[in-house]
Amino acid sequence: MNEELLTVAMPKGRIFDEAVDLLRQAGYPITEEFEDSRKLIIDVPEAGMRFILAKPMDVPTYVEHGVADVGVAGKDVMIEEKRDVYEVLDLKISACYMAVAALPSYRAGGEVAPKIASKYPNLTSEYFRQKGEQVEIIKLNGSIELAPIVGLADRIVDIVSTGQTLKENGLVEIEEMINITSRFIVNPVSYRTKAAMIDPMVDRLDQVINGQGEDRL
Ligand code: PRP
Repeated sequence: MNEELLTVAMPKGRIFDEAVDLLRQAGYPITEEFEDSRKLIIDVPEAGMRFILAKPMDVPTYVEHGVADVGVAGKDVMIEEKRDVYEVLDLKISACYMAVAALPSYRAGGEVAPKIASKYPNLTSEYFRQKGEQVEIIKLNGSIELAPIVGLADRIVDIVSTGQTLKENGLVEIEEMINITSRFIVNPVSYRTKAAMIDPMVDRLDQVINGQGEDRL
């Protein structure tokens, strides 16, 4: 953990641009080069910050271990990873939802334990356990929509944003599960020791997102 700078773990990929945009709106001077760089650590001393760029699923791991003080992580990742971090603010960006989908011809009931492909094995297993449905989970790392088409799985559990990926691959939604947005997360120790940096950051983000700031989690 850097003593001088606030270390911020950012998710590479889809959420990144929206998260950077939010930080800029909150008044943090993040330059244009930031988006184009292949660097994984970017210091912005003017803002008192160091950014580390991680895979979205790994952001809570960096924050839990304290090598990042704060981070931006999707609610999907928070549920899947169950890391020991504080979730202090709903950033209300990258809104999407988690859904169960299958081929239109799929009819449940034929098999003892239907195969469910997902990037989220823990979330998926908890969801079906609560429903009392026995399933076999097949963990994949991406392109989940491929699984039912090639016969690897009966159903999938995945994120739906525009719905384009399901549509283009001829899949249909069976159940909507949960709404997802990105969250601002904080390491519990940093929350105390770096309060002088973290509190104003949360307040500034809260102002941008909610105006008055009454929606703090
Ligand atoms: C995500 C998700 C879906 C898709 C949904 O995948 O897993 O496949 O986006 O978005 P849409 O509803 O707007 O089409 P991503 O592109 O992040 O890559 P991945 O397949 O490697 O997980």
